[in-house]
Amino acid sequence: MKKTLALALAVVMSLGLLAGCGGNNGNSSNPPAASNPPAASNPPAASNPAASIPDAPAGGGTVGVCIYKFDDAFMTTYRNSLQEILESKGYKVTVVDGNNDQAKQNEQINTFITQKVDALIINPVMTSAADQIIDTVKNAGIPTVLINREPTAEQMSAYDKLVYVGCNAAQSGTFQGELILETENQGDINGDGVISYIMIQGDPENIDAQLRTEYSVKALTDAGKEVKQLNLTRGDWDRNRGQEIAANDLAQFGDQIEVIFCNNDDMAIGALQAIQTAGRKVNEDIYLVGVDALDAALTEVKNGNMTGTVLNDAMGQATAAVEEMEKLLGGTTYASGEQSVYVDYVKVTPENVGDFMK
Ligand code: GAL
Repeated sequence: MKKTLALALAVVMSLGLLAGCGGNNGNSSNPPAASNPPAASNPPAASNPAASIPDAPAGGGTVGVCIYKFDDAFMTTYRNSLQEILESKGYKVTVVDGNNDQAKQNEQINTFITQKVDALIINPVMTSAADQIIDTVKNAGIPTVLINREPTAEQMSAYDKLVYVGCNAAQSGTFQGELILETENQGDINGDGVISYIMIQGDPENIDAQLRTEYSVKALTDAGKEVKQLNLTRGDWDRNRGQEIAANDLAQFGDQIEVIFCNNDDMAIGALQAIQTAGRKVNEDIYLVGVDALDAALTEVKNGNMTGTVLNDAMGQATAAVEEMEKLLGGTTYASGEQSVYVDYVKVTPENVGDFMK
């Protein structure tokens, strides 16, 4: 099914329908979620100028891929997809681990530049490093695709051989809220008229974490629901942190917790361990949602141990990233405001989970 989705995506992209305008505020260091502009609620489809240039070279070059850290469940799937696609097209690929250290990643980018790679695909460690990264690749004149951490449109406009491929994080947050609204009691398990939740956040510097945090709850309040946040804790996308945070919160708030929102699946799987240890039962006395559709999460959704998740389409994004890279290699340049390409998220429920399982 994923292959089918990716294929469908590739077709749509080649028609130039998927390019949207960027513009998320990705460079604030640790803002409260609510201060983010709702820029990304649903980026309008815009025509992609790149799509008009069909004669990109078919492989054969060298590509440097920088990943923020290898020890991240979703980015592992993503980088494996990238490598697979690039190698199948005949590119010589080197993928490096930034170890969550921006200084280290800067060195890796410089090394790739010294080695004269034909193109770079970069998953920045820090959104706040975007200016510096863009400056470096621009000075070297290397076509570059940024992935997973979106800079602002203004930052990207500094370099016309640069494009961002990712998803609209607000959409994944909205889908998480909708998953709760689709339950039989709409998240209000104890019937007191208030949805009481805890939020387990990713890295708060990351726009995905900020927008998922904001929009998951906004979906509830937009539906007229009253909500109460019992706690919000950063879990840095990490399974063990998800487990620890959920265990602490379950000990502190007990049955008051009706919903656990996790900014990603790895933390949700950790939270599930804590839920089970506390003797609670998902979908009976507590709801649990994540994002990514990791294989392990799909299994838990199928078994009723997670309320739902949201497909963060690694294969689709990797396909789009390579396609954009090839357009850049073919000489395409990008106009300011047209440098973000978005792949859709998909809501995953017990009803459709089978479609996403391999
Ligand atoms: C998100 C993803 C997380 C984590 C993060 C890294 O899109 O949902 O699981 O991989 O990217 O920046």
